[in-house]
Amino acid sequence: MTERLSTFGKRLALDSGIGELMRDLGDALAAGNSETCMLGGGQPSHIPAVDAIWQQRLTEIASDPAKVSRVLGDYDPPAGDAAFRDAVAKFFYRQFGWPITKDNVCVTAGGQTAFFLLLNAIAGRFDDREARKVLLPLSPEYIGYADQSVSTEFFRATKPLIHETGPHEFKYEIDFDALQVDDSIAAMCLSRPTNPSSNVVSDEELAKLCGIAKENQIPLIIDNAYGLPFPGAIFGDAVPHYDPSMILTFSLSKLGLPGTRTGIVIAEPEVVQYLSCMNAISSLANNNLGQAITLPLFENDQIATISRDVIRPYYRERSQQARQWLVDSIDPSIPFRIHRCEGAFFLWLWLPGLPISSAELYERLKRRNVLVISGHHFFFGLEDTEWSHRDECLRISYTTDPDVLQRGLKILGEEINSLYQVTVP
Ligand SMILES: Cc1ncc(COP(=O)(O)O)c(C=O)c1O
Repeated sequence: MTERLSTFGKRLALDSGIGELMRDLGDALAAGNSETCMLGGGQPSHIPAVDAIWQQRLTEIASDPAKVSRVLGDYDPPAGDAAFRDAVAKFFYRQFGWPITKDNVCVTAGGQTAFFLLLNAIAGRFDDREARKVLLPLSPEYIGYADQSVSTEFFRATKPLIHETGPHEFKYEIDFDALQVDDSIAAMCLSRPTNPSSNVVSDEELAKLCGIAKENQIPLIIDNAYGLPFPGAIFGDAVPHYDPSMILTFSLSKLGLPGTRTGIVIAEPEVVQYLSCMNAISSLANNNLGQAITLPLFENDQIATISRDVIRPYYRERSQQARQWLVDSIDPSIPFRIHRCEGAFFLWLWLPGLPISSAELYERLKRRNVLVISGHHFFFGLEDTEWSHRDECLRISYTTDPDVLQRGLKILGEEINSLYQVTVP
């Protein structure tokens, strides 16, 4: 059967890391086992005050026949609804003074699709030159990028510097001395905050990266799926940055609307035009619903205020609580370290000298109904580098119900303690 698949088919229609993960997570949920502790996916929490806003917006739309007819019955133009794109551009202008218009805004079917289209449009195989790659300035990086190429492997990653920042804590930093940009690099790409580590690249590091990208005339793509100004899951100080040499991606998913599949790209009009053409070919148009639900929230800036006043404090508190439970569950004599919790929805646990691989630890935990993600998935683009760290990390999502999280972390601690042969009384 596989001999009938094209190069595209062989790359996308067969098993992939992300496919396996999504299936594992989906199967566990579908099995409906109340014992399962789902600490795996990038699912946002159901925050009551935020869910109430969506409920209210849906009621407003449903009670207006003209709106229902428009939202459910009409195809959008491939770059997205003009009024929505205009509202988004004006929102960013009011918030940050970015001199953009709706021609700088393109809607996509989620951030994932934005990356699929963008990365394949600028990297991979070319008709008239050597293949080009996407440089990840900081590894580990979001697993969802890993299998997206339709032509040839296109990631080159950079090993980070590791700082031990406190008892049982560490932090990654971009190793600018190791960052190699040459003709084979088509773009640089970074999630901020970074999934999986929760690292937030500082404003200074971002400015430096932007300078390097400009010097080499390549785009710097910043993935703000968890970042500023929405959903705002950045716990310290950070400032969003836009320059015409950059491509910024945003998503409504982590605000609490993953079901609407709505991504937003801010870029030069030429890039918006490319994306719009690719949208038309691959899916005709985007889903209207997320745009319709959030349009007034962009117009009145509520998208920024709920992010700042509700969503950000919510995840900051959940992250601190989760960190404490994790620390309490592992024997202090074990040299474990948790990445400094700077944003996103995850704890990134490093177990130096782990006696088995993180993939085996994942399997052991799965047998005890605790689903996390083995860290090795996130180190793509570094395949040729010997580095034990790659098999010593786990990503733990803390967005689930607190009771489930606490139970899962306790079991996780028991497994780790038994591996290092210590038992906590
Ligand atoms: C860093 C990052 N970027 C992009 C995405 C894509 O999300 P969506 O397609 O729902 O916008 C995710 C989802 O988990 C993510 O973690």
